[in-house]
Amino acid sequence: MSKIVNRRTFFRFGAGALGTLVASQSLAQACGVDTGGQPLGPFFPRPGTPIDPIHEDPDTSTPIYLANDNDLTFVRGRLGTALGQWVEVKGQVTDGDCKPVVGATIIIWQASASGRYNHKGDAANEDFEHPVTGDIVQRTHDKNFQYWGQATTNAQGEYVFKTIVPGFYPADLSTAWYRPPHIHFLISATGFPQLVTQMYFRGKDIANNDFIQDLNGKDLILQSEELTPLQRESLVVDFKTKSLLDKTLEGTFNIQIKK
Ligand SMILES: [Fe+2]
Repeated sequence: MSKIVNRRTFFRFGAGALGTLVASQSLAQACGVDTGGQPLGPFFPRPGTPIDPIHEDPDTSTPIYLANDNDLTFVRGRLGTALGQWVEVKGQVTDGDCKPVVGATIIIWQASASGRYNHKGDAANEDFEHPVTGDIVQRTHDKNFQYWGQATTNAQGEYVFKTIVPGFYPADLSTAWYRPPHIHFLISATGFPQLVTQMYFRGKDIANNDFIQDLNGKDLILQSEELTPLQRESLVVDFKTKSLLDKTLEGTFNIQIKK
């Protein structure tokens, strides 16, 4: 008798476990792909990196990448605002079961509108010839641009940044490789490995969108074979103008992290 009970119990649990597995698989398909990793790159402001710091946190012992807020379009205490097309990048961080990841720290860093990082290591090719127009592009610092930002996901796993479309810049002039506009992301959440990735731009409201899509298609990092086609597509975000009254572009970059 007890054998029958045991077998029935086993069957019930077995069927239940299978049901859960099927449900979580279909949920995973519904909420997208796990976000692909991308290189950190040379311009992350590591502690001790010689940089021109823009430090919005009054406590200057805070590392530069944690010192700033989620609005990169101005620097507290300065009167001007950042050059370039303003964008709102928002999204949700979810886990492999599509559940929101609450309290994740997201750090972003990027170039200015003219394609210059606030990092002493970004010194080569300050001026370069535009590969299409032949004009000289001057990569300059923008003292009113914050360069780095930080946000924490809310109870729904959501985050938002206000920033600008960064400029493109030469990666290797000898092979005519130019990095398309991109934002570097570093996502940290308790219980998950850190994810480092890069987000790219697309949309007819973006200045020089055709040229940017050409760069996206040729970029050795975005086109890395370490990404699946779905992962690659998920790193390119569609932006559009918010409204007639607000020329800011908006786009959604959802991020899925795995344990
Ligand atoms: Fe970069």
